[in-house]
Amino acid sequence: MSNTPYALEMRGITKRFPGVLANDDVNFAVEKGEIHALLGENGAGKSTLMNMVNGLYRADEGKILLDGKPVKFSSPRDAIDSGVGMVHQHFMLVPTQTVSENLILGQKAPRFYINYKKLEQDIAELSRKFGLAVDPQAKIWQLSVGEQQRVEILKMLYQGAKLLIMDEPTAVLTPQEVTDLFKTLREMTATGHTIIFISHKLDEVVEIADKVTVLRRGKVVATVDGHATSKAELARLMVGREVLFRIKKKPAEPTTDALVIDSVSCENDRGLPALRDLSLTVRSGEVVGIAGVAGNGQTELAQVITGLREAKFGTITVQGQNVTNQSATATIDQGLAYIPSDRNGVGSSPNLTLADNLILKSYRKPPIGPGWRIDLKLVRSQAEKLIEQFDVKTPSADLPARLLSGGNLQKLILAREISRQPKVIIAVYPVRGLDVGAIESIHQMLIDERDRGAGILLISEDLDELLSLSDRIVVLFEGQIVGEVPPEDERIDEIGLMMAGTKVEHSHAT
Ligand SMILES: Nc1ncnc2c1ncn2[C@@H]1O[C@H](COP(=O)(O)OP(=O)(O)OP(=O)(O)O)[C@@H](O)[C@H]1O
Ligand SMILES: [Mg+2]
Repeated sequence: MSNTPYALEMRGITKRFPGVLANDDVNFAVEKGEIHALLGENGAGKSTLMNMVNGLYRADEGKILLDGKPVKFSSPRDAIDSGVGMVHQHFMLVPTQTVSENLILGQKAPRFYINYKKLEQDIAELSRKFGLAVDPQAKIWQLSVGEQQRVEILKMLYQGAKLLIMDEPTAVLTPQEVTDLFKTLREMTATGHTIIFISHKLDEVVEIADKVTVLRRGKVVATVDGHATSKAELARLMVGREVLFRIKKKPAEPTTDALVIDSVSCENDRGLPALRDLSLTVRSGEVVGIAGVAGNGQTELAQVITGLREAKFGTITVQGQNVTNQSATATIDQGLAYIPSDRNGVGSSPNLTLADNLILKSYRKPPIGPGWRIDLKLVRSQAEKLIEQFDVKTPSADLPARLLSGGNLQKLILAREISRQPKVIIAVYPVRGLDVGAIESIHQMLIDERDRGAGILLISEDLDELLSLSDRIVVLFEGQIVGEVPPEDERIDEIGLMMAGTKVEHSHAT
Protein backbone atom coordinates (compact mmCIF):
# COMPACT_ATOMS: atom_id res chain seq x y z
CA MET A 1 0.00 0.00 0.00
CA SER A 2 1.25 3.46 -0.80
CA ASN A 3 0.06 6.40 1.24
CA THR A 4 -1.68 8.36 -1.51
CA PRO A 5 -5.15 9.42 -0.40
CA TYR A 6 -6.52 8.45 -3.80
CA ALA A 7 -8.15 5.11 -4.44
CA LEU A 8 -8.27 6.03 -8.13
CA GLU A 9 -6.54 8.65 -10.21
CA MET A 10 -7.05 9.16 -13.94
CA ARG A 11 -4.59 11.51 -15.64
CA GLY A 12 -4.98 12.93 -19.13
CA ILE A 13 -7.33 10.18 -20.29
CA THR A 14 -8.46 10.37 -23.93
CA LYS A 15 -10.68 7.84 -25.71
CA ARG A 16 -11.85 7.98 -29.32
CA PHE A 17 -14.42 5.92 -31.16
CA PRO A 18 -14.93 6.24 -34.91
CA GLY A 19 -16.35 9.73 -35.32
CA VAL A 20 -16.57 10.41 -31.55
CA LEU A 21 -14.17 11.89 -29.02
CA ALA A 22 -15.76 10.19 -26.00
CA ASN A 23 -13.22 11.34 -23.38
CA ASP A 24 -10.97 14.32 -23.90
CA ASP A 25 -7.93 14.73 -21.62
CA VAL A 26 -9.84 13.79 -18.46
CA ASN A 27 -8.32 14.22 -15.00
CA PHE A 28 -10.36 12.50 -12.29
CA ALA A 29 -9.34 11.62 -8.74
CA VAL A 30 -11.34 9.70 -6.14
CA GLU A 31 -10.33 9.64 -2.49
CA LYS A 32 -10.40 6.45 -0.46
CA GLY A 33 -13.65 5.90 1.39
CA GLU A 34 -15.66 8.55 -0.44
CA ILE A 35 -18.78 8.36 -2.57
CA HIS A 36 -17.92 10.24 -5.73
CA ALA A 37 -20.74 10.99 -8.17
CA LEU A 38 -20.08 11.28 -11.89
CA LEU A 39 -22.59 13.45 -13.72
CA GLY A 40 -23.13 14.55 -17.28
CA GLU A 41 -25.58 14.71 -20.16
CA ASN A 42 -26.45 11.60 -22.17
CA GLY A 43 -23.41 10.73 -24.23
CA ALA A 44 -21.05 12.90 -22.17
CA GLY A 45 -18.70 9.93 -21.75
CA LYS A 46 -19.40 8.68 -18.20
CA SER A 47 -19.80 4.97 -18.97
CA THR A 48 -16.84 5.06 -21.35
CA LEU A 49 -14.57 6.60 -18.71
CA MET A 50 -15.55 3.99 -16.15
CA ASN A 51 -15.26 1.12 -18.63
CA MET A 52 -11.59 1.99 -18.87
CA VAL A 53 -11.12 1.67 -15.11
CA ASN A 54 -12.95 -1.65 -15.36
CA GLY A 55 -10.75 -3.05 -18.14
CA LEU A 56 -13.47 -3.21 -20.80
CA TYR A 57 -11.90 -0.44 -22.89
CA ARG A 58 -8.28 0.65 -23.20
CA ALA A 59 -7.45 4.37 -23.05
CA ASP A 60 -5.87 5.89 -26.18
CA GLU A 61 -3.88 8.28 -24.02
CA GLY A 62 -3.31 8.88 -20.32
CA LYS A 63 -2.64 7.00 -17.13
CA ILE A 64 -4.74 5.19 -14.56
CA LEU A 65 -3.46 4.75 -10.99
CA LEU A 66 -4.96 2.64 -8.21
CA ASP A 67 -3.72 3.48 -4.72
CA GLY A 68 -0.92 5.43 -6.39
CA LYS A 69 0.25 2.58 -8.59
CA PRO A 70 -0.11 2.67 -12.39
CA VAL A 71 -2.31 -0.12 -13.77
CA LYS A 72 -3.16 -1.43 -17.25
CA PHE A 73 -6.11 -3.77 -17.34
CA SER A 74 -7.03 -5.80 -20.38
CA SER A 75 -10.22 -7.32 -19.00
CA PRO A 76 -12.76 -6.91 -16.18
CA ARG A 77 -11.14 -10.04 -14.70
CA ASP A 78 -7.86 -8.09 -14.34
CA ALA A 79 -9.76 -5.22 -12.77
CA ILE A 80 -11.50 -7.34 -10.16
CA ASP A 81 -8.20 -9.04 -9.33
CA SER A 82 -6.97 -5.56 -8.42
CA GLY A 83 -10.10 -4.79 -6.41
CA VAL A 84 -12.12 -2.84 -8.99
CA GLY A 85 -15.72 -3.94 -9.59
CA MET A 86 -18.43 -2.43 -11.75
CA VAL A 87 -22.21 -2.80 -11.79
CA HIS A 88 -23.29 -1.89 -15.31
CA GLN A 89 -26.23 0.05 -16.72
CA HIS A 90 -27.40 -3.27 -18.14
CA PHE A 91 -26.97 -6.18 -15.75
CA MET A 92 -24.65 -8.99 -16.71
CA LEU A 93 -26.02 -11.95 -14.75
CA VAL A 94 -26.89 -15.35 -16.21
CA PRO A 95 -30.70 -15.64 -15.85
CA THR A 96 -30.92 -19.45 -15.78
CA GLN A 97 -28.36 -19.87 -12.98
CA THR A 98 -28.74 -19.42 -9.24
CA VAL A 99 -27.47 -16.52 -7.18
CA SER A 100 -24.55 -18.62 -5.82
CA GLU A 101 -23.59 -19.83 -9.27
CA ASN A 102 -23.54 -16.27 -10.57
CA LEU A 103 -21.31 -15.15 -7.73
CA ILE A 104 -18.55 -17.55 -8.67
CA LEU A 105 -18.81 -17.10 -12.46
CA GLY A 106 -15.41 -16.37 -13.90
CA GLN A 107 -13.55 -17.60 -10.82
CA LYS A 108 -10.43 -19.57 -11.57
CA ALA A 109 -11.11 -22.60 -9.35
CA PRO A 110 -12.70 -25.51 -11.23
CA ARG A 111 -16.37 -26.17 -10.46
CA PHE A 112 -15.96 -29.45 -8.55
CA TYR A 113 -13.59 -27.74 -6.08
CA ILE A 114 -16.30 -25.43 -4.92
CA ASN A 115 -17.69 -25.95 -1.47
CA TYR A 116 -21.27 -24.78 -1.94
CA LYS A 117 -22.05 -24.92 1.75
CA LYS A 118 -19.16 -22.57 2.51
CA LEU A 119 -20.13 -20.37 -0.44
CA GLU A 120 -23.66 -19.99 0.87
CA GLN A 121 -22.39 -19.16 4.33
CA ASP A 122 -20.12 -16.49 2.86
CA ILE A 123 -23.01 -15.04 0.88
CA ALA A 124 -25.23 -14.98 3.97
CA GLU A 125 -22.45 -13.24 5.91
CA LEU A 126 -21.96 -10.54 3.23
CA SER A 127 -25.73 -10.12 2.84
CA ARG A 128 -26.13 -9.47 6.54
CA LYS A 129 -23.15 -7.14 6.84
CA PHE A 130 -24.20 -4.91 3.94
CA GLY A 131 -27.97 -5.26 4.13
CA LEU A 132 -28.25 -7.09 0.80
CA ALA A 133 -31.01 -9.63 1.42
CA VAL A 134 -31.31 -12.30 -1.28
CA ASP A 135 -31.87 -16.07 -1.43
CA PRO A 136 -28.62 -17.78 -2.64
CA GLN A 137 -30.58 -20.63 -4.23
CA ALA A 138 -33.01 -18.50 -6.22
CA LYS A 139 -32.59 -18.42 -10.00
CA ILE A 140 -31.81 -14.96 -11.38
CA TRP A 141 -34.88 -14.84 -13.64
CA GLN A 142 -37.11 -15.24 -10.61
CA LEU A 143 -35.74 -12.09 -8.96
CA SER A 144 -37.01 -8.52 -9.24
CA VAL A 145 -34.73 -5.92 -10.79
CA GLY A 146 -33.85 -4.59 -7.33
CA GLU A 147 -32.88 -8.06 -6.13
CA GLN A 148 -30.78 -8.67 -9.23
CA GLN A 149 -28.89 -5.51 -8.50
CA ARG A 150 -28.18 -6.74 -4.97
CA VAL A 151 -26.75 -9.89 -6.53
CA GLU A 152 -24.48 -7.78 -8.76
CA ILE A 153 -23.19 -5.89 -5.74
CA LEU A 154 -22.76 -9.08 -3.71
CA LYS A 155 -20.84 -10.60 -6.60
CA MET A 156 -18.40 -7.69 -6.65
CA LEU A 157 -17.96 -7.75 -2.87
CA TYR A 158 -17.53 -11.52 -2.89
CA GLN A 159 -14.83 -11.25 -5.54
CA GLY A 160 -13.01 -8.68 -3.42
CA ALA A 161 -13.91 -5.27 -4.87
CA LYS A 162 -12.58 -2.32 -2.85
CA LEU A 163 -13.54 0.26 -5.46
CA LEU A 164 -17.10 -0.21 -6.70
CA ILE A 165 -18.35 1.62 -9.79
CA MET A 166 -22.13 1.82 -10.16
CA ASP A 167 -23.50 2.97 -13.51
CA GLU A 168 -26.98 4.46 -12.95
CA PRO A 169 -27.86 1.99 -10.20
CA THR A 170 -31.05 3.77 -9.17
CA ALA A 171 -32.60 4.14 -12.65
CA VAL A 172 -34.49 0.88 -12.21
CA LEU A 173 -35.18 0.96 -8.46
CA THR A 174 -38.28 1.85 -6.48
CA PRO A 175 -37.92 4.68 -3.94
CA GLN A 176 -37.75 2.14 -1.08
CA GLU A 177 -35.03 0.19 -2.87
CA VAL A 178 -33.07 3.41 -3.36
CA THR A 179 -33.19 4.06 0.39
CA ASP A 180 -31.93 0.51 1.02
CA LEU A 181 -29.16 0.87 -1.57
CA PHE A 182 -27.95 4.08 0.03
CA LYS A 183 -27.74 2.32 3.40
CA THR A 184 -25.63 -0.37 1.77
CA LEU A 185 -23.36 2.21 0.12
CA ARG A 186 -22.81 4.01 3.44
CA GLU A 187 -22.05 0.67 5.11
CA MET A 188 -19.50 0.01 2.39
CA THR A 189 -17.66 3.30 2.77
CA ALA A 190 -17.65 2.80 6.55
CA THR A 191 -15.78 -0.46 5.97
CA GLY A 192 -13.13 1.11 3.74
CA HIS A 193 -14.71 0.74 0.30
CA THR A 194 -14.75 3.54 -2.25
CA ILE A 195 -17.71 4.19 -4.52
CA ILE A 196 -18.17 5.89 -7.87
CA PHE A 197 -21.82 6.58 -8.50
CA ILE A 198 -23.20 7.59 -11.92
CA SER A 199 -26.69 9.08 -11.88
CA HIS A 200 -29.00 11.55 -13.60
CA LYS A 201 -31.08 12.01 -10.48
CA LEU A 202 -29.80 15.19 -8.94
CA ASP A 203 -31.79 14.81 -5.71
CA GLU A 204 -29.97 11.55 -5.06
CA VAL A 205 -26.58 12.95 -5.95
CA VAL A 206 -27.04 15.84 -3.54
CA GLU A 207 -28.15 13.36 -0.87
CA ILE A 208 -25.43 10.73 -1.17
CA ALA A 209 -22.28 12.18 -2.77
CA ASP A 210 -19.23 13.51 -0.95
CA LYS A 211 -17.80 14.83 -4.24
CA VAL A 212 -19.32 15.41 -7.65
CA THR A 213 -17.46 15.53 -10.95
CA VAL A 214 -19.32 16.82 -14.00
CA LEU A 215 -18.47 15.84 -17.58
CA ARG A 216 -19.61 17.74 -20.64
CA ARG A 217 -18.87 16.42 -24.14
CA GLY A 218 -16.07 14.22 -22.86
CA LYS A 219 -14.35 16.90 -20.77
CA VAL A 220 -14.36 17.54 -17.03
CA VAL A 221 -16.13 20.85 -16.32
CA ALA A 222 -15.87 20.83 -12.53
CA THR A 223 -15.44 18.82 -9.36
CA VAL A 224 -17.49 20.18 -6.47
CA ASP A 225 -18.22 19.33 -2.83
CA GLY A 226 -21.34 17.17 -2.76
CA HIS A 227 -22.47 18.51 0.60
CA ALA A 228 -22.23 22.15 -0.45
CA THR A 229 -23.73 22.00 -3.94
CA SER A 230 -27.37 22.23 -5.12
CA LYS A 231 -29.53 20.67 -7.79
CA ALA A 232 -29.63 23.95 -9.69
CA GLU A 233 -25.84 24.32 -9.68
CA LEU A 234 -25.33 20.74 -10.87
CA ALA A 235 -27.91 21.12 -13.64
CA ARG A 236 -26.25 24.29 -14.84
CA LEU A 237 -22.81 22.66 -14.86
CA MET A 238 -24.16 19.70 -16.83
CA VAL A 239 -26.14 21.46 -19.51
CA GLY A 240 -24.46 24.85 -19.53
CA ARG A 241 -27.75 26.72 -19.02
CA GLU A 242 -30.53 27.10 -16.44
CA VAL A 243 -32.95 24.17 -16.29
CA LEU A 244 -36.61 24.48 -15.30
CA PHE A 245 -37.71 21.51 -13.24
CA ARG A 246 -41.41 21.95 -14.19
CA ILE A 247 -42.80 22.29 -17.68
CA LYS A 248 -45.37 24.86 -18.77
CA LYS A 249 -48.64 23.60 -20.17
CA LYS A 250 -52.18 24.83 -20.72
CA PRO A 251 -55.21 23.00 -19.30
CA ALA A 252 -56.16 19.90 -21.27
CA GLU A 253 -59.07 20.00 -23.70
CA PRO A 254 -60.03 16.34 -23.88
CA THR A 255 -62.46 15.22 -26.59
CA THR A 256 -63.58 11.67 -27.50
CA ASP A 257 -62.55 8.41 -25.82
CA ALA A 258 -59.17 7.32 -27.22
CA LEU A 259 -58.46 4.26 -25.08
CA VAL A 260 -61.12 2.39 -23.16
CA ILE A 261 -60.18 -0.43 -20.82
CA ASP A 262 -63.30 -2.23 -19.64
CA SER A 263 -63.22 -4.72 -16.72
CA VAL A 264 -59.89 -6.23 -17.74
CA SER A 265 -58.24 -9.03 -15.79
CA CYS A 266 -54.95 -10.73 -16.56
CA GLU A 267 -52.20 -12.79 -14.95
CA ASN A 268 -48.51 -12.13 -14.38
CA ASP A 269 -45.63 -14.38 -15.52
CA ARG A 270 -46.11 -16.64 -12.53
CA GLY A 271 -49.79 -17.19 -13.30
CA LEU A 272 -51.05 -15.04 -10.43
CA PRO A 273 -53.68 -12.31 -10.88
CA ALA A 274 -51.95 -9.09 -12.00
CA LEU A 275 -54.93 -6.93 -13.06
CA ARG A 276 -58.27 -7.41 -11.39
CA ASP A 277 -61.36 -6.12 -13.16
CA LEU A 278 -59.69 -2.88 -14.12
CA SER A 279 -61.57 -0.14 -15.98
CA LEU A 280 -60.05 3.11 -17.19
CA THR A 281 -60.67 5.61 -19.97
CA VAL A 282 -58.13 7.93 -21.57
CA ARG A 283 -59.58 10.64 -23.83
CA SER A 284 -57.93 12.27 -26.84
CA GLY A 285 -56.03 15.31 -25.66
CA GLU A 286 -55.35 14.30 -22.07
CA VAL A 287 -52.55 12.71 -20.07
CA VAL A 288 -53.71 10.17 -17.50
CA GLY A 289 -50.98 9.31 -15.02
CA ILE A 290 -50.82 5.95 -13.28
CA ALA A 291 -49.18 6.19 -9.88
CA GLY A 292 -48.17 3.10 -7.98
CA VAL A 293 -45.30 1.19 -6.47
CA ALA A 294 -43.68 -1.05 -9.11
CA GLY A 295 -45.10 -4.55 -9.13
CA ASN A 296 -48.74 -3.56 -8.67
CA GLY A 297 -49.69 -4.39 -12.26
CA GLN A 298 -48.13 -1.50 -14.20
CA THR A 299 -46.05 -3.67 -16.52
CA GLU A 300 -48.93 -6.05 -17.14
CA LEU A 301 -51.30 -3.16 -17.85
CA ALA A 302 -49.02 -1.80 -20.56
CA GLN A 303 -48.53 -5.28 -22.02
CA VAL A 304 -52.18 -6.19 -22.11
CA ILE A 305 -53.03 -2.96 -23.96
CA THR A 306 -50.27 -3.42 -26.52
CA GLY A 307 -51.06 -7.07 -27.28
CA LEU A 308 -48.04 -8.51 -25.49
CA ARG A 309 -50.09 -10.21 -22.76
CA GLU A 310 -53.40 -12.01 -22.83
CA ALA A 311 -56.47 -10.47 -21.24
CA LYS A 312 -58.42 -13.23 -19.44
CA PHE A 313 -61.54 -11.07 -19.18
CA GLY A 314 -62.71 -7.69 -20.40
CA THR A 315 -62.23 -5.59 -23.53
CA ILE A 316 -59.85 -2.90 -24.73
CA THR A 317 -60.74 -0.45 -27.50
CA VAL A 318 -58.68 2.19 -29.28
CA GLN A 319 -60.87 4.89 -30.84
CA GLY A 320 -63.81 2.54 -30.85
CA GLN A 321 -61.91 -0.40 -32.46
CA ASN A 322 -61.69 -3.55 -30.38
CA VAL A 323 -58.01 -4.47 -29.92
CA THR A 324 -58.43 -7.02 -27.12
CA ASN A 325 -55.91 -9.85 -27.48
CA GLN A 326 -54.83 -8.73 -30.93
CA SER A 327 -51.25 -9.09 -32.10
CA ALA A 328 -48.76 -6.33 -31.34
CA THR A 329 -48.69 -5.52 -35.08
CA ALA A 330 -52.45 -5.02 -35.11
CA THR A 331 -52.29 -2.60 -32.19
CA ILE A 332 -49.58 -0.64 -34.02
CA ASP A 333 -51.90 -0.38 -37.02
CA GLN A 334 -54.63 0.97 -34.76
CA GLY A 335 -52.36 3.89 -33.90
CA LEU A 336 -51.03 2.73 -30.58
CA ALA A 337 -47.51 3.77 -29.62
CA TYR A 338 -45.60 2.01 -26.86
CA ILE A 339 -42.59 3.31 -24.95
CA PRO A 340 -41.67 0.23 -22.93
CA SER A 341 -39.65 0.12 -19.73
CA ASP A 342 -37.30 -2.48 -21.21
CA ARG A 343 -35.48 -0.50 -23.87
CA ASN A 344 -33.10 -3.30 -24.85
CA GLY A 345 -35.41 -6.30 -25.08
CA VAL A 346 -38.73 -4.90 -26.26
CA GLY A 347 -37.83 -1.38 -27.27
CA SER A 348 -35.03 -1.85 -29.77
CA SER A 349 -32.87 -4.31 -31.70
CA PRO A 350 -29.29 -3.82 -30.49
CA ASN A 351 -27.57 -5.12 -33.63
CA LEU A 352 -29.64 -3.20 -36.18
CA THR A 353 -28.56 0.29 -37.19
CA LEU A 354 -30.27 3.38 -35.82
CA ALA A 355 -32.00 3.91 -39.18
CA ASP A 356 -33.37 0.35 -39.14
CA ASN A 357 -34.52 0.70 -35.55
CA LEU A 358 -36.36 3.86 -36.44
CA ILE A 359 -38.44 2.13 -39.15
CA LEU A 360 -39.13 -1.09 -37.20
CA LYS A 361 -42.78 -0.16 -37.00
CA SER A 362 -43.32 1.42 -40.39
CA TYR A 363 -41.53 -0.71 -42.99
CA ARG A 364 -44.59 -2.82 -43.77
CA LYS A 365 -46.55 0.07 -45.26
CA PRO A 366 -46.10 2.94 -47.73
CA PRO A 367 -44.39 5.34 -48.06
CA ILE A 368 -41.40 3.29 -46.76
CA GLY A 369 -42.63 -0.26 -47.49
CA PRO A 370 -44.18 -2.65 -48.28
CA GLY A 371 -41.62 -4.90 -46.58
CA TRP A 372 -40.29 -6.48 -49.78
CA ARG A 373 -39.57 -3.13 -51.34
CA ILE A 374 -38.16 -0.68 -48.86
CA ASP A 375 -37.28 2.83 -49.97
CA LEU A 376 -33.77 3.01 -48.48
CA LYS A 377 -33.23 6.61 -49.43
CA LEU A 378 -36.37 7.64 -47.61
CA VAL A 379 -35.39 5.51 -44.59
CA ARG A 380 -32.09 7.37 -44.38
CA SER A 381 -33.47 10.85 -44.78
CA GLN A 382 -36.26 10.20 -42.25
CA ALA A 383 -33.77 8.68 -39.81
CA GLU A 384 -31.46 11.67 -40.10
CA LYS A 385 -34.34 14.05 -39.52
CA LEU A 386 -35.46 12.21 -36.39
CA ILE A 387 -31.92 11.94 -35.01
CA GLU A 388 -31.60 15.68 -35.34
CA GLN A 389 -35.06 16.50 -33.98
CA PHE A 390 -34.70 14.23 -30.94
CA ASP A 391 -31.08 15.20 -30.36
CA VAL A 392 -29.79 11.61 -30.48
CA LYS A 393 -26.01 11.97 -30.09
CA THR A 394 -24.38 9.71 -32.68
CA PRO A 395 -21.77 10.03 -35.43
CA SER A 396 -24.14 8.43 -37.98
CA ALA A 397 -27.50 6.77 -38.63
CA ASP A 398 -25.62 3.58 -39.57
CA LEU A 399 -24.32 2.94 -36.05
CA PRO A 400 -25.62 -0.29 -34.47
CA ALA A 401 -28.06 0.68 -31.71
CA ARG A 402 -26.03 -1.16 -29.05
CA LEU A 403 -23.24 1.41 -29.35
CA LEU A 404 -25.46 4.32 -28.32
CA SER A 405 -25.17 5.65 -24.77
CA GLY A 406 -28.04 4.54 -22.50
CA GLY A 407 -29.95 7.81 -22.65
CA ASN A 408 -29.54 8.20 -26.39
CA LEU A 409 -31.07 4.76 -26.95
CA GLN A 410 -34.09 5.88 -24.96
CA LYS A 411 -34.35 9.00 -27.16
CA LEU A 412 -34.22 6.78 -30.27
CA ILE A 413 -37.21 4.75 -29.07
CA LEU A 414 -39.13 7.92 -28.24
CA ALA A 415 -38.34 9.30 -31.70
CA ARG A 416 -39.72 6.21 -33.42
CA GLU A 417 -42.88 6.07 -31.33
CA ILE A 418 -43.81 9.74 -31.27
CA SER A 419 -43.01 10.40 -34.94
CA ARG A 420 -45.79 8.09 -36.12
CA GLN A 421 -48.43 10.56 -34.91
CA PRO A 422 -50.11 7.96 -32.71
CA LYS A 423 -53.65 8.21 -31.40
CA VAL A 424 -52.73 6.66 -28.09
CA ILE A 425 -49.33 6.61 -26.38
CA ILE A 426 -48.53 4.16 -23.61
CA ALA A 427 -45.47 5.64 -21.92
CA VAL A 428 -43.78 3.52 -19.26
CA TYR A 429 -41.04 5.40 -17.36
CA PRO A 430 -40.44 7.46 -20.55
CA VAL A 431 -37.51 9.49 -19.25
CA ARG A 432 -35.66 6.75 -17.40
CA GLY A 433 -31.93 7.30 -17.83
CA LEU A 434 -32.29 10.72 -19.47
CA ASP A 435 -30.37 13.79 -18.37
CA VAL A 436 -32.20 16.84 -17.01
CA GLY A 437 -32.07 18.71 -20.31
CA ALA A 438 -33.39 15.75 -22.28
CA ILE A 439 -36.17 15.19 -19.72
CA GLU A 440 -37.31 18.75 -20.25
CA SER A 441 -37.51 18.35 -24.02
CA ILE A 442 -39.16 14.90 -23.94
CA HIS A 443 -41.78 16.12 -21.48
CA GLN A 444 -42.48 19.05 -23.77
CA MET A 445 -42.86 16.67 -26.72
CA LEU A 446 -45.36 14.53 -24.84
CA ILE A 447 -47.41 17.61 -24.00
CA ASP A 448 -47.24 18.70 -27.66
CA GLU A 449 -48.56 15.24 -28.61
CA ARG A 450 -51.39 15.70 -26.13
CA ASP A 451 -52.24 19.07 -27.65
CA ARG A 452 -52.18 17.51 -31.13
CA GLY A 453 -54.91 15.17 -29.85
CA ALA A 454 -53.18 12.00 -28.67
CA GLY A 455 -54.46 10.26 -25.55
CA ILE A 456 -51.54 9.50 -23.26
CA LEU A 457 -51.30 6.90 -20.53
CA LEU A 458 -48.25 7.71 -18.42
CA ILE A 459 -46.93 5.03 -16.09
CA SER A 460 -44.33 6.32 -13.68
CA GLU A 461 -43.09 5.99 -10.13
CA ASP A 462 -41.75 9.50 -10.09
CA LEU A 463 -44.41 11.64 -8.43
CA ASP A 464 -42.82 14.85 -9.68
CA GLU A 465 -43.08 13.61 -13.25
CA LEU A 466 -46.68 12.48 -12.71
CA LEU A 467 -47.69 15.78 -11.14
CA SER A 468 -46.03 17.85 -13.79
CA LEU A 469 -47.39 15.99 -16.87
CA SER A 470 -50.73 14.47 -15.89
CA ASP A 471 -54.17 16.01 -16.24
CA ARG A 472 -55.58 13.29 -13.99
CA ILE A 473 -53.79 10.80 -11.75
CA VAL A 474 -55.18 7.37 -10.87
CA VAL A 475 -53.51 5.12 -8.33
CA LEU A 476 -52.90 1.44 -9.03
CA PHE A 477 -52.63 -0.97 -6.12
CA GLU A 478 -52.55 -4.76 -6.39
CA GLY A 479 -53.99 -4.71 -9.89
CA GLN A 480 -56.88 -2.38 -9.11
CA ILE A 481 -57.45 1.33 -9.36
CA VAL A 482 -57.92 2.56 -5.82
CA GLY A 483 -58.62 6.21 -6.52
CA GLU A 484 -58.31 9.28 -8.72
CA VAL A 485 -56.65 12.52 -7.66
CA PRO A 486 -56.15 15.82 -9.47
CA PRO A 487 -52.45 16.53 -10.11
CA GLU A 488 -51.92 19.09 -7.38
CA ASP A 489 -48.85 19.32 -5.19
CA GLU A 490 -50.97 19.44 -2.03
CA ARG A 491 -52.41 16.02 -2.84
CA ILE A 492 -49.05 14.27 -2.78
CA ASP A 493 -49.56 12.71 0.67
CA GLU A 494 -52.95 11.39 -0.35
CA ILE A 495 -51.40 9.78 -3.44
CA GLY A 496 -48.66 8.26 -1.28
CA LEU A 497 -51.24 6.74 1.07
CA MET A 498 -53.19 5.26 -1.81
CA MET A 499 -50.01 3.83 -3.30
CA ALA A 500 -49.54 2.00 -0.02
CA GLY A 501 -53.05 0.55 -0.33
CA THR A 502 -55.17 2.90 1.76
CA LYS A 503 -58.49 3.66 0.10
CA VAL A 504 -59.34 7.34 0.33
CA GLU A 505 -63.09 7.82 0.60
CA HIS A 506 -63.94 10.97 -1.33
CA SER A 507 -61.96 10.08 -4.46
CA HIS A 508 -63.46 7.84 -7.13
CA ALA A 509 -62.07 5.90 -10.06
CA THR A 510 -63.04 6.51 -13.66
N1 LIG B 1 -18.12 0.90 -28.30
C1 LIG B 1 -18.45 2.09 -28.83
N2 LIG B 1 -18.29 2.32 -30.15
C2 LIG B 1 -18.60 3.53 -30.70
N3 LIG B 1 -19.05 4.58 -30.00
C3 LIG B 1 -19.23 4.40 -28.67
C4 LIG B 1 -18.95 3.17 -28.01
N4 LIG B 1 -19.22 3.30 -26.70
C5 LIG B 1 -19.66 4.57 -26.54
N5 LIG B 1 -19.65 5.24 -27.72
C6 LIG B 1 -20.01 6.66 -27.91
O1 LIG B 1 -19.25 7.44 -26.99
C7 LIG B 1 -20.03 8.54 -26.49
C8 LIG B 1 -20.08 8.50 -24.98
O2 LIG B 1 -20.89 7.43 -24.59
P1 LIG B 1 -21.11 6.98 -23.08
O3 LIG B 1 -21.86 5.70 -23.13
O4 LIG B 1 -19.83 7.01 -22.36
O5 LIG B 1 -22.07 8.17 -22.54
P2 LIG B 1 -22.74 8.35 -21.09
O6 LIG B 1 -22.21 9.61 -20.52
O7 LIG B 1 -22.59 7.11 -20.30
O8 LIG B 1 -24.28 8.61 -21.48
P3 LIG B 1 -25.68 8.09 -20.82
O9 LIG B 1 -26.00 9.03 -19.71
O10 LIG B 1 -26.68 8.26 -21.93
O11 LIG B 1 -25.50 6.67 -20.41
C9 LIG B 1 -21.39 8.42 -27.16
O12 LIG B 1 -21.41 9.27 -28.28
C10 LIG B 1 -21.46 6.95 -27.59
O13 LIG B 1 -22.29 6.79 -28.72
MG1 LIG C 1 -23.90 5.62 -19.66
